[in-house]
Amino acid sequence: MENRDAGLIEKILDLKKRRGAVILAHNYQLGEVQDIADFVGDSLELSQNAAKTNANVIVFCGVHFMAETASILCPDKVVLLPDTNAGCPMADMITAERLREMKKEHPQAVVVCYINTSAEVKAESDICCTSANVVKLVENLDAREILFIPDQYLGNYVSARTGKEMILWPGFCPTHARIQPERIKELKQEYPRAKVVVHPECRPEVIALADEVLSTGGMCRYARRDEVLEMVVGTELGIIHRLRKENPGKRFIPVSEQAICPNMKLITLEKVLWSLEEMRPEVKVSQGVRLRAKAAVDKMLQIG
Ligand code: 13P
Ligand code: SF4
Repeated sequence: MENRDAGLIEKILDLKKRRGAVILAHNYQLGEVQDIADFVGDSLELSQNAAKTNANVIVFCGVHFMAETASILCPDKVVLLPDTNAGCPMADMITAERLREMKKEHPQAVVVCYINTSAEVKAESDICCTSANVVKLVENLDAREILFIPDQYLGNYVSARTGKEMILWPGFCPTHARIQPERIKELKQEYPRAKVVVHPECRPEVIALADEVLSTGGMCRYARRDEVLEMVVGTELGIIHRLRKENPGKRFIPVSEQAICPNMKLITLEKVLWSLEEMRPEVKVSQGVRLRAKAAVDKMLQIG
């Protein structure tokens, strides 16, 4: 650890205590940000954690929709997102207005929204999901027609797993789109004993080559298994920090060094400190939108 970081970390931890704050970080955050967090996890684990924390202030080290979800669940808490420019391009690929138009075309459809959506879009949806619970959720869904938004690749994967046809929105994650099947084939040759684990936001050609298709939290649990000694990892690069930290002696090979989500990397230690000093930028969802969005998020949390 650099001296510069040591001073910053001390200030952050001190101020965090004085503010009664908790720091939640996504698995794609910079290593130094993950290391100061009280909890590091995937989208589902972070929402579950936000829902049950006793802290007055949540510093959300992730992207905008994650902080919004925390605000939807905890309206009385201050939710800070250290850089409000940390958005999600996939979430921006659908708006509430476009969704309303689509719903008019499919009035009977149940709308399942990925958590990577704005609060307004969640408010127009029936049930929310993450990559950790979507298969279980769709399997148990009693619906003639399902409209799945906004990730076409995740939707495609869920359809294949559940055998249920769904109407898909043409959204995708630009970071996961960088993960190439050709590279996985090369790595399989190079590391024949390695397990290939990819995120369901990857393209179908990539998913077809995987031994396991898991959320980032699922990847962390899978990596702990005794039989997993080498793992080819098809997701955003930030997770490698946690995998190596928790599993010394095991080998983790990223499929692409270019699979970096620029939005996730906007959160730095300096910005975490400033957000605690100034108690902003705050993410707050208006009450009208919040209550409707909460219904969709609550249904997801009940499933777990
Ligand atoms: P999970 O961490 O929920 O698997 O999601 C990955 C992601 O892209 C978050 O934006
Ligand atoms: Fe959005 Fe992809 Fe970044 Fe996740 S990795 S926040 S889906 S752009």
